[in-house]
Amino acid sequence: MCGIVGYVGTDHAKEKIIDGLKRLEYRGYDSAGIALPINGKIQVQKAVGEIKNLEAKIASPDFDAPVGIGHTRWATHGKPTEINAHPHLNEEETVAIVHNGIIENYQEIREWLATEYGIKFKSETDSEVIAHLIGLFYNGDLLDAVNKAVAEMRGAYAIAAIAADEPDKIVAVRKDAPLIAGIGDGFNFIASDIPAVLKYVRDVYLIENNETVVLTKDEIVIYDENGNKVDREVYVVNWKADAADKADYDHYMLKEIHEQPAVISETLMSRLNPDDSIRLDDISLTKEDIDNINKIYIVACGTAYHAGLVGKMVIEKMAHIPVEIDVASEFRYRDTFIDDKTLFIAISQSGETLDTLAALRDAKDRGARILSVVNAVGSSIARESHDVFYTLAGPEVAVASTKAYTTQLICMYLIGLYMGSTKGTIDKEYYNYMLGELKALPAKVNKVIENEPVIKELAERYHYRDNVFFIGRGLDSGVSYEGSLKLKEISYIHSFAIAAGELKHGTIALMDSDTLVVALATQDKLYEKMVSNIVEVQARGARIIGLAKEGKTEIEKTSDEVIYIPQCADEVAPVLAVVPLQIFAYYVALEKGCNIDKPKNLAKSVTVE
Ligand code: G6P
Repeated sequence: MCGIVGYVGTDHAKEKIIDGLKRLEYRGYDSAGIALPINGKIQVQKAVGEIKNLEAKIASPDFDAPVGIGHTRWATHGKPTEINAHPHLNEEETVAIVHNGIIENYQEIREWLATEYGIKFKSETDSEVIAHLIGLFYNGDLLDAVNKAVAEMRGAYAIAAIAADEPDKIVAVRKDAPLIAGIGDGFNFIASDIPAVLKYVRDVYLIENNETVVLTKDEIVIYDENGNKVDREVYVVNWKADAADKADYDHYMLKEIHEQPAVISETLMSRLNPDDSIRLDDISLTKEDIDNINKIYIVACGTAYHAGLVGKMVIEKMAHIPVEIDVASEFRYRDTFIDDKTLFIAISQSGETLDTLAALRDAKDRGARILSVVNAVGSSIARESHDVFYTLAGPEVAVASTKAYTTQLICMYLIGLYMGSTKGTIDKEYYNYMLGELKALPAKVNKVIENEPVIKELAERYHYRDNVFFIGRGLDSGVSYEGSLKLKEISYIHSFAIAAGELKHGTIALMDSDTLVVALATQDKLYEKMVSNIVEVQARGARIIGLAKEGKTEIEKTSDEVIYIPQCADEVAPVLAVVPLQIFAYYVALEKGCNIDKPKNLAKSVTVE
């Protein structure tokens, strides 16, 4: 969703801001803008569409300053027009703001400003009220004006503001929307996310809720909501410098697919002691806590929810605790049975998905213990959880999630094994066997990736299909949902996933010779049943791409094509099975000429309901 970048230093702020905004493109946007204090005035340029449209408008050397704020907007209130794009100005054009989030009482504030002060609004956005409020309260002290403005607002926000009369300063504030400050030498940054500043700084401050930050080129001062200075620890980002770059790949998605062996290994190995015991050191769940848990809810959205589908089966099998799984937008509005014996697991790549965050807060209020599985360090979901299990996937830029999903699966296995071994529901032999299987995954994922040319050929052969079904049983059914989502997200092909055994209760009516079915048959104990399901759809004329473990060749008799994954324990097969589906979706979308990293209508981080 919206992205914020601000720079204060001695260099050309516009170049740094544009670079940062490009690195936030993955969040999704439909317009962009930038404001600089120039010769005692604030100058703003905005453009609809890609950032290059904005670049063209700010090329003039006259539009330059060592301080500025920029924004990519993802329309919520008001269409994606130039007027609605940020930055927004007050009437005198002495203050400019960029905003990420939603001001819930903006109608009220709008009416008040219009009737009391005769302010005329230019845009349809909720954000514009912020500029007018700050302008109204401004008396030569931007920090004071921002604090007063914020006191009038309800909702979620990360805001960065500049004032014409204080051209060496940015003031920013956050509540329920991400914000970090990048610490430079003679310059500083404010931004929505770390990738925006990674090219220039390694040290950052993670800004907490209700904190205000004043940035000048030499200093970053953080204040709490009572106006007291906060001594924040520096967070050192240890991602590689090119972590958020595309390197030699045509798309981030392909790069991220290829990164999976490394990030799976990192997520796993960071949690293992030399004696192979699992180290969840920043997770404070004791044996007593685990014994106390009688119910688990896993709640997430999109791909993270699909990781939860696998997580449910794995944790139930290993820890013998009933696990319910739900999409966050549904969980919030149904009657759930939460108490202090409930463990609530939130899964989220961004850590900012609003529905997941709201579900977490609700569960926390009702006494649940909150464990989150999150990729973005310091994100809202991470900060509001009792315990956090970070997936070490590094920055995921492509909207379609790949490496975050496979590392989320690794966390599910580790949580299951940890709880199971602590409770005594799994024995040492099984524990050691599973660890061996997990450790073997990076090399096996590599082998699957080496099969890319074969999968690419299948994508070339089938990319014109209008309808694709993904079927599977047991853990494979969870992976089917993710395979189907990948395909529809980036290739815009209608696809549908269903537990294979359920086909005959309705969906099989849709099968004919135009249908393509991707049939996952990686689960040994369900293999024969799955082959029978494949026969059922084959009898209706559907084309079938089967997916099975090496050596399980019977599937060749009933499938038109077969993709093999290396032999492995059934439990860990989802990590291997999903990779060909990611690659298949990627090459289908490539064949169709789709915008793979930034699919239409989608955003990487969904911070609205
Ligand atoms: C959006 C993204 C998906 C993602 C989902 C949940 O819809 O496009 O790729 O799976 O949000 O995001 P989260 O950051 O909570 O994992």
